[in-house]
Amino acid sequence: MTVKVTVTGAAGQIGYALLFRVASGQLLGPDIPVKLSLLEIPQAVKAAEGTAMELDDCAFPLLQGIEISDDPAKAFDGASVALLVGARPRTKGMERGDLLEANGGIFGPQGRAINEHAADDIRVLVVGNPANTNALIAQSAAPDVPAERFTAMTRLDHNRALSQLAAKLNVPVAEIRKMTIWGNHSATQYPDLFHAEVGGKIAAEQVEQEWLRDTFIPTVAKRGAAIIEARGASSAASAANAAIDHVHDWVNGTPEGDWTSAAIPSDGSYGVPEGLISSFPVVSRNGRWEIIQGLEIDAFSRERIDASVNELVEERDAVRALGLI
Ligand code: NAD
Ligand code: LMR
Repeated sequence: MTVKVTVTGAAGQIGYALLFRVASGQLLGPDIPVKLSLLEIPQAVKAAEGTAMELDDCAFPLLQGIEISDDPAKAFDGASVALLVGARPRTKGMERGDLLEANGGIFGPQGRAINEHAADDIRVLVVGNPANTNALIAQSAAPDVPAERFTAMTRLDHNRALSQLAAKLNVPVAEIRKMTIWGNHSATQYPDLFHAEVGGKIAAEQVEQEWLRDTFIPTVAKRGAAIIEARGASSAASAANAAIDHVHDWVNGTPEGDWTSAAIPSDGSYGVPEGLISSFPVVSRNGRWEIIQGLEIDAFSRERIDASVNELVEERDAVRALGLI
């Protein structure tokens, strides 16, 4: 059966890197036909039409159709996967409250449209920043959709952490297991090497503690800013790649003996307040994310997880005060 995948911000940078991979079967699998729905603001509909022409020109066997709209009700109608990429970037002079409010104006209506029009099996991945809190806004506007269907992306941070560690230890990324990103997709995130394994041994024991604390953690946490500095634009192909990884694993399951990172609604595990959309070590089984339980958290990790979770609490309180959730 054909699966409808809605991508917001379809004419943007990430959209351009994402749509072709969805249409080629990399999102859901090589046997699943897809129909793409592109949601854009009116000024960018023409550019989305251009991307749709290019998608046509690829003659992807799995692509069963492309719709373009500036109306969330139409764009999410019957959708089983929603990739919420379009967001309001922070511009000069904009305070954090202004940014949250502007994004509330996007993710609230999109959440409502998902609630009213999406398919019963809808799965939502929020990529647009601030991703965790935008996901919370969309979720709270969709009371009829199970809360667990709203997730935010920390897979890019996870992949960055794998790559940095592999380079440090001079091993292939495939040798690394059980990497975790905790908390917010922001500079406070905590990439955790105390549970990650390389060649079956704990990664933190194979690197100098100074490198872990003073190089690894800040490099991963500030990689987004470093890309913006180098490229003059935020990460796009790597962000699209991570979105593909996240949804692919959510739908098809994570490999045995490993886990990944995703920001999902907290059930209170590891002291993260219930309902916050925070990154955890997770596996996907039968199409559902499950938080890995029972990990020991030492004082070093506790302090860093708490710092990032506290930032999420502040963001939640700010959008609550603005009446957005
Ligand atoms: P971009 O500016 O190139 O594209 C954004 C697109 O969204 C634009 O085409 C714009 O017209 C569209 N848009 C804006 N409001 C919309 C709305 N209400 N409905 C539909 N479309 C709308 O930006 P980009 O580089 O593609 O990045 C998109 C977002 O992803 C940004 O918020 C960026 O910070 C974020 N991001 C997140 C991660 C992550 O790891 N979570 C990584 C990279 C980028
Ligand atoms: C990233 O991690 O690359 C982005 O979230 C950075 C950004 O602010 O867009």
